Amino acid sequence: MKITLTTEKKAKPDFTKLGFGKYFTDHMLVMDYTHGKWQEMQIAPYQSFMIDPSCNVLHYGQGIFEGMKAYKDKQGKITMFRSYDNIKRMNNSAKRMCMPTLDVEEVIEGIKELIKIDADWIPTQEGASLYIRPTMIAHDNMLGVHPAHNYKFFVILSPVGSYYANGLQPTKIMIEENYVRCPLGGTGEAKCMGNYAASLLAGELAAQKGYDQVLWLDAKERKYIEEVGAMNIFFVIDGVVKTPALVGSILPGITRDSAIKVLKKEGLPVEECRITVDEVMQAYEEGKLDEVFGCGTAAVISPVGTLGYRGKDIIINNNEMGKISSFLYDTITGIQYGKLEDSFGWVIKVN
Ligand code: PLP
Ligand code: COI
Repeated sequence: MKITLTTEKKAKPDFTKLGFGKYFTDHMLVMDYTHGKWQEMQIAPYQSFMIDPSCNVLHYGQGIFEGMKAYKDKQGKITMFRSYDNIKRMNNSAKRMCMPTLDVEEVIEGIKELIKIDADWIPTQEGASLYIRPTMIAHDNMLGVHPAHNYKFFVILSPVGSYYANGLQPTKIMIEENYVRCPLGGTGEAKCMGNYAASLLAGELAAQKGYDQVLWLDAKERKYIEEVGAMNIFFVIDGVVKTPALVGSILPGITRDSAIKVLKKEGLPVEECRITVDEVMQAYEEGKLDEVFGCGTAAVISPVGTLGYRGKDIIINNNEMGKISSFLYDTITGIQYGKLEDSFGWVIKVN
């Protein structure tokens, strides 16, 4: 691996006011795919790319990304959380989008090296971490609609606080009936760029009505719950924790999987199933909708306090974070920040 260090380190932002994804560290990892194979990985100063206007990711969106996090404790020990799973998922996204797959081990080693170089960018404040964004783009200068022959893989790092401006305050989510995220057979399972572009309009319209994000329903019947813009969703109905099954149209979230495993280990009832919006509304009417929460790398465990449906808002758990959400938040962040024992083998040592 070729390493070129920057000669001009950037000024650090105020780590107590990071927000999400606004600042980037001094270096990045870059690897080009040409002549049918990945070339040497490089760590270089963080810089702009020169891209030809005909570059096909700009036209047809053949691009994928991942999101994972690194943490540093007060003693300077750095860890990552389940990153092998992220790179494996990136390979699944790559296959769906006709892109080349990565050598998981090599990429993890490269990312560790990058993090060590930019270690002074990892915040140690409660709730803050270093967000890692591996990305792959098609890189042919060519307007034909077919898979590219050249690709660029890169990893950038961003010190982050909470994803939502109000931190752990319960969010307001609107159940979306007009627009859909992905039909079965589409790209819902892949973390590809177009999924996010296609979600923006519904998100903007919901934001105009005061909601933080939308909750998508299935594309065919607009009946079954799928997921939220940047997180998977869980409902606690009459003491049972339920989350939509991975039927092919939603992202198989790594936080979702962690939550399920933590709940099962605790012996709590958890079901991956199809959940209808009617079932959720009925549970609310009967006083059985105990909690709703979203989960994701950026969002961690994020309680939902308001669900908007057909112009009416329902308030969940008195707009407070519930018992199950708090337990999951404490357990998952406890493992991530090294405060709780990692009996699942999820924590990866960086230094
Ligand atoms: N669903 C969508 C659409 C997302 O963008 C994310 C975030 O990555 C998730 C779910 C949660 O996935 P994960 O827990 O792997 O971050
Ligand atoms: C993540 O949680 O890592 C995401 O990718 C969500 C969003 C920022 C796109």
